[in-house]
Amino acid sequence: MRIAMIASEAAPFIKTGGLGDVMQALPAALARIPGNQVSLFLPYYKRIKYDPAVEAELVTSFTVHLTWRQQYAGLFRWAGSTDSLAVYFLDNEYYFCRDGLYGFYDDGERFAYYAKAVLSAMEALELQPEIVHCHDWQSALIPVYLEAEFRSSFPQARTVFTIHNVEYQGKADASFFGEVLGLDDRWRGVCSFDEGINFMKAAIVQADLVTTVSETYAQELRYPYFAHGLSGILSSRGERLVGITNGIDTELYDPAADPALAAHYSAANPTGKQRCKQALQKALGLEEKDVPLLAMVTRLASHKGIDLLCYILPRLLERELQLVIVGTGEAKYEYALQAVAAEHPGKFSMNLRFDPTLASQVYAGADLYLMPSKSEPCGLSQLIAMRYGAIPVVNATGGLKDTVPAYNPETGEGRGYTFQSYNGDDFLGAIDRALGDYHAAPAAWAALGKADMEQDFSWTIPAQRYMELYCSIV
Ligand code: GLC
Repeated sequence: MRIAMIASEAAPFIKTGGLGDVMQALPAALARIPGNQVSLFLPYYKRIKYDPAVEAELVTSFTVHLTWRQQYAGLFRWAGSTDSLAVYFLDNEYYFCRDGLYGFYDDGERFAYYAKAVLSAMEALELQPEIVHCHDWQSALIPVYLEAEFRSSFPQARTVFTIHNVEYQGKADASFFGEVLGLDDRWRGVCSFDEGINFMKAAIVQADLVTTVSETYAQELRYPYFAHGLSGILSSRGERLVGITNGIDTELYDPAADPALAAHYSAANPTGKQRCKQALQKALGLEEKDVPLLAMVTRLASHKGIDLLCYILPRLLERELQLVIVGTGEAKYEYALQAVAAEHPGKFSMNLRFDPTLASQVYAGADLYLMPSKSEPCGLSQLIAMRYGAIPVVNATGGLKDTVPAYNPETGEGRGYTFQSYNGDDFLGAIDRALGDYHAAPAAWAALGKADMEQDFSWTIPAQRYMELYCSIV
């Protein structure tokens, strides 16, 4: 099958969050299926274009029209492309050669341009994709432009739109329709929502299929608490809103081979994990003693549950344990957490940085991994944590609910500790249950860690599920 994947970030080229991980692993997993030809499109951001490690050559160039605007587009092909997986970059220095990816006053215009540029690129390449799979609001106008202006070039193409996080929808004033989009007036209704233009809403209405990144989140999105205004629109898609839980790159995240670690280990031979814990304590200036080590690797954003963490922190730190946090984000959380950490040297290590090497070391060194997210479309860190034998403590929402069934010490079933509503005391209660089991039943605890590590987190199954969906609409 010929599949075009369109996103605004993909590792290893560029990544700001989980979307970047998914866009590295999913296209690769699809490309491994015999008969598939996957083309991945990305903006040619400054950081990609001037990265000496990323070689690409110009294929062609053309002009993209957005009402009166006539913008250059250069189409580059990554030198590492293969027959089954080609990566293309859309070049326009005015839109993409900036510091950072998103958050500019003209983001709407930048990604409207991107949508049209990608469709023109597919035309120039004579790609004829059977599936055009778009991710998040940055590529959400593609199903619209495809139908409105490119249908004759791609008579067979079917569109899939995946929501990785409904919080970010791509919104603009109503005037954006006439000033930038340049679509025929009959598309105004599709693109409009709440008296403005809403990219994500347009894709939800227009795409042949809408998916999201876990089954529970697909259900939650039908409710106002989770859907950030789009519950009605999302419910109206009925069965055509499907959840497929993400995997992780199990080669990249492998405690038996991860070059960042002080020692390697696996479910079959877990002894190295203790060495990783000691190395982490030493590296971060924590006291080198045998206490449960709790960890978080996270963006410091409110939907990640940082409020709950701050609320329980004084009580949590009265317990015999150590806490390591890695991440950056909202200033108020950075200040608050740093201030508490300064009062607890040797016990609480706060690392305000984005550092994949340290992140690996933390997953490997941790006994417990905390993820109190208010909502979580899928969540990848709890999967990485389990793969590294750190037991998750999570709010049972979205993908966390699907991937961390509650542990029952009586039967040994389940994968971690959960709490059922967004509430700090319940969060602390779940941590206390975990700490209780950690101390009271070391053998059962070790068995839980082993069972967590043995799970199949690879992309093989999710990629198959996407194939089934694709086949259902082509
Ligand atoms: C977004 C979501 C996260 C998900 C990721 C990849 O970052 O917030 O839950 O795992 O996308 O789909």
